[in-house]
Amino acid sequence: MHIKKRIIAANWKSQLTFKQTTVLCENNAQSFIALASTPYAELALFPSYESLFGMNTLFADTNVAYGAQNCSAYQLGAYTGEVAAQSLAELGCTYTLVGHSERRLYAKEDDATIALKMERLLEVGVQPIVCVGETRAEHEAQATKAALERQLMPIFERLVMSQAKKPAICIAYEPVWAIGTGLVPQQEYIVDIIAWLSSTCAAAVPTASYRFLYGGSITVHNASSIAMLPGLDGLLIGSASLDFQNLQKIVSSLC
Ligand code: PGA
Repeated sequence: MHIKKRIIAANWKSQLTFKQTTVLCENNAQSFIALASTPYAELALFPSYESLFGMNTLFADTNVAYGAQNCSAYQLGAYTGEVAAQSLAELGCTYTLVGHSERRLYAKEDDATIALKMERLLEVGVQPIVCVGETRAEHEAQATKAALERQLMPIFERLVMSQAKKPAICIAYEPVWAIGTGLVPQQEYIVDIIAWLSSTCAAAVPTASYRFLYGGSITVHNASSIAMLPGLDGLLIGSASLDFQNLQKIVSSLC
C-alpha cells in the first residue's frame, strides 16, 4: 500500500539563539534522523540563518531536510545584509520559506518581492514554501479568497517565466489569525480553501507542481486530524515544533 508522506515543517522563527539551536540539534541528532526515516513523514527543519551551516554538518546525507526562513530577492551582488539563495543551495537546503506573514508584517515584504524570492530559489534548485493567508479583517469580511488571489498573482507570473521544466513549489496556507493564537479554522474551511487553492494554482500555471501545507496553531492534539485532511500534504508548525518530544509525538501521530 502506498503511504502518503506528510511534510512536517518546523518553523523555529527567531525563538532560539545559535547556541540553543545547536544544543537542540546536537542532543537529538540521531532521534531527528530516526524521525525523518519514518515512511509517513518528511521532516524539514527551519532554523535561523546562522544555524544552517551546523545543520549541514549534522544532517547532510541524512533524511532530515532543512532550510531557511527567508532569502534575498536578488542574485549575488551589492545587497548589504541579504542572504542569497545560491548560498542556501550550497548549504544543502532542500526547502526555504518565503512570504511568511511575520515577514509581510514586520519587514513589510510585498507580494512582488516574495515572488522574486521564490524565483531566486527555483533558479538554484531549492524548493520554495510560499506562505499565504488572510488577516483577521479579511477573514471577517469573507475576503479570504480575494486575499489569497492577490498574494498568488505575482507568484503565478514568475512561475510562468521559470526556466525549470516543471517548477515544484509548496504553498503553505496559514491564516494570519490562526498563527500563534490557539485559534484553528473549522476542518471544512481548511478543506475548502485547500481545494480552491489546488484548482486555482493548477488552472493558473498547469506546468508547475504543487503541494499544500496548513499552518497556524498546530499542536500535538490537532496535528494528525488536520494533516490527514483531503488535499493536504503536510503541516507548517511554529511553537509546537520547538520541543523535540512534541515534534516526535506529532510525527508519531501521523502513522
Ligand atoms: P504556530 O506558527 O504553529 O506557532 O501558530 C505557525 C507559523 O507561523 O508558521
